[in-house]
Amino acid sequence: MRGIVLAGGLGSRLLPLTAITNKHLLPVYDKPMIYYPIETLVRAGVKDILLVTGGNYAGDFLRLLGNGKAFGLSHIDYVYQEGEGGIAEALGLARYYAEGERMVVVLGDNIIEDDITPFVEAFRAQGEGARILLKEVEDPERFGVAELDGDRVVAIEEKPKVPKSNHAVTGVYMYDANVFDIISTLKPSSRGELEITDVNNAYIRRGTMRFDYLKGWWTDAGTFESLYRANRLVAEGTLGKSPSA
Ligand code: G1P
Repeated sequence: MRGIVLAGGLGSRLLPLTAITNKHLLPVYDKPMIYYPIETLVRAGVKDILLVTGGNYAGDFLRLLGNGKAFGLSHIDYVYQEGEGGIAEALGLARYYAEGERMVVVLGDNIIEDDITPFVEAFRAQGEGARILLKEVEDPERFGVAELDGDRVVAIEEKPKVPKSNHAVTGVYMYDANVFDIISTLKPSSRGELEITDVNNAYIRRGTMRFDYLKGWWTDAGTFESLYRANRLVAEGTLGKSPSA
């Protein structure tokens, strides 16, 4: 199983914080944001990790992460995304790295309380197709939103004005190697990006999309409100576990 962390983009929703650095290098309580998705993968036993980044500060990831010693890794791979083509375009750059293997993709600004090992195991057992993780939220219009029919996802809408459910699609995606052929058929959305939601809908149409629910808290950190929330959730969890707190 390969691990892919997507950490590109300009982080323009966080200006001026992102004027002189990459969003994923900003602090979330006591660590840079990018630590959390890497830890999520390593905790699930996924240790072959590719980081996709871009923009003006890509070199800072190498300075910060090096070969991944802080995570017990012997190496991390890196690839550079030119431009702002979206999450699915960034993932497309991982084709050479996947070498036909299946993969767990985590968005660089997603912070997850759960150990995702059981979900990765379920994906291993599933064989072909894709698997997403859902979480009930109060503001689904900010996310990809899953429309469910019993235990099936029938469609996902990207940031719908009138969401059909409050089940957000979190930024943890598991794919087989068909994902790269799917990405090569995508057209840019109205925001000029190749959308991960279009990838997921392609798997739904093929009948090979499965899902699980995250049990613990989950947040992204790409806006001031969600970055603040991420800091608070991590701090509360960390301080709550500390004997001196
Ligand atoms: C992206 C995806 C969205 C998903 C979200 C999770 O949104 O497009 O479907 O629910 O990540 O964090 P973005 O925040 O990049 O616009």
